[in-house]
Amino acid sequence: MTELATLRYSGKNYELPVVVGTQNEAAVDISKLRSQSGLITLDNGYGNTGSCSSSITYVDGEKGVLKYRGYLIEVLATKSTFVETAYLLIFGDLPTTSQLAEFRKLLMQHEFIHEDMRHHFDGFPPNAPPMAILSAMMNAVGCFEPVFMQADDDEYFMEPAARLMSKIRTIAAASYRKSLGKPLIYPRSKLRYVENFLHMLFSKPYEPYEADEAVVQALDKLLILHADHEQNCSTSTVRMVASSQANLYASVAAGVCALWGPLHGGANVAVIDMLSELVESGQKLDKFVERVKNRDEGVRLMGFGHRVYKNFDPRAKIIKESCHRLLDKLGIEDPLLDIAMQLEEVALKDPYFIERKLYPNVDYYSGIIMRALGIPTDMFTVIFAIGRLPGWIAHWREVHTNDSGRIDRPRQIYVGHTAREYLPIEDRG
Ligand code: ACO
Repeated sequence: MTELATLRYSGKNYELPVVVGTQNEAAVDISKLRSQSGLITLDNGYGNTGSCSSSITYVDGEKGVLKYRGYLIEVLATKSTFVETAYLLIFGDLPTTSQLAEFRKLLMQHEFIHEDMRHHFDGFPPNAPPMAILSAMMNAVGCFEPVFMQADDDEYFMEPAARLMSKIRTIAAASYRKSLGKPLIYPRSKLRYVENFLHMLFSKPYEPYEADEAVVQALDKLLILHADHEQNCSTSTVRMVASSQANLYASVAAGVCALWGPLHGGANVAVIDMLSELVESGQKLDKFVERVKNRDEGVRLMGFGHRVYKNFDPRAKIIKESCHRLLDKLGIEDPLLDIAMQLEEVALKDPYFIERKLYPNVDYYSGIIMRALGIPTDMFTVIFAIGRLPGWIAHWREVHTNDSGRIDRPRQIYVGHTAREYLPIEDRG
């Protein structure tokens, strides 16, 4: 039997159903509250608002638990590959051998972009931010492909999902090369997903790039860790756009724009900028932490804090270990890693961070790994987007296959002027 929560307002009681998820999270269903009482709920930034029910990803922010389709992130990061994890997120189950082979074949078949799309890159100015190019080009893919999709048919949907996952790599590499004025490199079908991406990023027309296996593995793991994170800003954006029944390409292009911001995926760039400035200026770390606490010029400790994780971010733990392993393996000494560890130590002992439950998030160490992989800073958020794409596709699909879904349309409390008299311009003083 459904439990009820009672809200008392203006002398009347309102009974509201309580919805319980498979991990026993409970939520008050307020969908009928306005029609019954005239009240809406107000929750700036949606900090305590469930916008949907979803069966894709589970996060327990207090315990630091993250699961994709019921599998712990720690298990997937050690045992799975990015392509297999992507399949899991989009189709709900780990693939069989033949399903994975079919998915890989489709990824290979769709790695080229339409030759006409290559000319689009010429329209961007030199040094255009790769995230701007990526978003524009993801939308442009939709002009070259059928946008109607049978989202509820697994066999059918494998193709559009693979097409988008394959093309984002080619577009991302091309946007980077364009920003440097370098010739675009064609994909090579015999290479694995991540290897092929590195080849398109770093090969020269006369000299193919040979990726170190440690580099391939580290990047693959990084992509798994970024693959989904339930209702974060970019995924909620994708879902909101999808709720208007917009096509997959348009919805994902919007997700790329949301991810770009420095409070979201753009934080991995902001962390490197912050650490570089600390190394270059030689500023004392406790002084810097004081500036953060005093909010001097709005300065924040980038890569720290999370809306949901209030104990630790399990992805940050895995990335930190992976970062140490990779730098050891490649024999790299990065002063930014040293300063990052010292700064983490100072912050974690400080009451300001302890009281607010601020811990390193996924972006704190990911930039250092990407530097070690030879990836330039302005591509960091693009790498995040490649990783997050399977999650966006899975959420788009969940929205499109939900028969009881409605267009997303939040309400507001209006706090502006009430009625104003229109004055002709000459009387406005
Ligand atoms: N440095 C200093 N203070 C911080 C930080 C930080 N990184 N993060 C939060 N705080 C403080 C806030 O000022 C606030 O203090 P107050 O209560 O005294 O006003 C308190 O901690 C709560 O923070 P909110 O901003 O309310 O937390 P919110 O959930 O809105 O924001 C966010 C989360 C955006 C991640 C925030 O912690 C932040 O800006 N972090 C730095 C940017 C970052 O690393 N973003 C990546 C997030 S992970 C991802 O998107 C993949």
